[in-house]
Amino acid sequence: MYVVQSEEMLAKIDGVTPCRYGAPTVLVVAFDKNNVFTYPGGKRDSGVEDATIVATHMILAASDEGVDSCWINFFDPDKMAEAIELPENEEILMLLDLGYAAEGAGPLPNHSSRKPLAETVSYL
Ligand SMILES: Cc1cc2nc3c(=O)[nH]c(=O)nc-3n(C[C@H](O)[C@H](O)[C@H](O)COP(=O)(O)O)c2cc1C
Repeated sequence: MYVVQSEEMLAKIDGVTPCRYGAPTVLVVAFDKNNVFTYPGGKRDSGVEDATIVATHMILAASDEGVDSCWINFFDPDKMAEAIELPENEEILMLLDLGYAAEGAGPLPNHSSRKPLAETVSYL
């Protein structure tokens, strides 16, 4: 996890994604590719999942503190890694903008719409 707050590094992030939206703090959630659990079968490992658990808890913790956030993946991961000088052994999962939503900002129209359970859940 990296915390980006300096004007210099925030500007570098702005060079790779248009999605900071002026947030004064950006978390970069990354994981060590050499420190993951490989699942039976050997085709998958836990890196993305481990980092996703961290990211989602950061969103909830921020919300508890009254801080808004936005999950950001709209960037070329190689360019972002270069911009923040990420070590070779690490992979970025996502960036998390932290700040306060603009006055009048609200969720997207489909924020609270729900598909019928039958479309998304199957009983085996
Ligand atoms: C995997 C993932 C990647 C996302 N990447 C971006 C992004 O790059 N830029 C952005 O503005 N929002 C991004 N979002 C945030 C979505 O826009 C946000 O979750 C969506 O607006 C739903 O929020 P709402 O239900 O509160 O409206 C991403 C969300 C997810 C789950």
